[in-house]
Amino acid sequence: MLHYADMIDLVATARSFFASGKGILAADESVHTATARLAAYGVPASAEMRRRYRDLFLGAEGIERYLSGVILFEETLSQKGDDGKPFPDSLAARGIAPGIKVDEGIEPFPTSPEESITKGLLGLDARLEGYRKQGAVFTKWRAVVRIDGDRLPTSTALHENAKRLASYAKEAQAAGLVPILEPEVLLEGKHSRQRARAVIEETLGMLFSVLEEHSVDCASVILKTAMALSGSDSGRKDTPEEVAEDTVAALLASVPRQTSGIVFLSGGQTPEQATENLAAISRRARALNAPWPLTFSYARALQEEALALWKGKQENLALARTAFLERLARVSAALGN
Ligand code: 13P
Repeated sequence: MLHYADMIDLVATARSFFASGKGILAADESVHTATARLAAYGVPASAEMRRRYRDLFLGAEGIERYLSGVILFEETLSQKGDDGKPFPDSLAARGIAPGIKVDEGIEPFPTSPEESITKGLLGLDARLEGYRKQGAVFTKWRAVVRIDGDRLPTSTALHENAKRLASYAKEAQAAGLVPILEPEVLLEGKHSRQRARAVIEETLGMLFSVLEEHSVDCASVILKTAMALSGSDSGRKDTPEEVAEDTVAALLASVPRQTSGIVFLSGGQTPEQATENLAAISRRARALNAPWPLTFSYARALQEEALALWKGKQENLALARTAFLERLARVSAALGN
């Protein structure tokens, strides 16, 4: 029997996200998170308001200059833009690949309840099939890694999350969907940048050794990672050069060269920090001849400024979209390619 995955060139699809000057918008906040983001600007929660919030970004003219892909949440995959077209169709028509977050959030890890594990493997194959039929060509799974001094993360939690990421990656590839693996090392905490670097290295080292044990083909896997930054409660502000040095060192030490590429999350950095740090990381990776392409996959750093201007009001839409496109242009230019 010919498997669907055999008909799709997953490696070429994965590589296509790294086309010059392009990256991925993470517009995949869960209903809960999107509701909270809107509430912060006094926008009441409803499926319709979340649809308009997505349309603010996905309906903006010219985003295809900067975006190779957009990660959607399940709710958005079935919604339509103001143009009357389903969001995945209107993205695909502009050459932007639609993707979907497929994990079902986190829960406490029973062995170490201060840490979390990611849910969503149950019934995943059937969901993947449905998402593919709705037009998704790639997927994302997020695990969360919390730093607390030398105590957390525990290697048991890292291992459990790595196993789940590997199982997800295999299922996504079998379904003909490119997997984005996102073990997010959180910015929250008092830790130093050096500690963040060590934890990123340990997390990714563990992940890629488990992927190998599970025979996951890394050439069609995209890694989504945090940058190495001092914790948000550390009282320290890193320079872009410091962030670049530690981030690229952690990646060179732990990410196999055949990995199709690496994308960054913004993780609570300001849009400006996320832009400047990306520029420094891109420069450093080029100077060191890093083997994989790099780009952005931000949610907050791309959407925050526009949301603050929009505030749920139609009369602010044009201004908000202009701010979004300006930030996209700056983040794209930061890639320097
Ligand atoms: P931020 O860029 O806001 O960190 O979000 C990226 C993401 O996809 C988190 O899962």
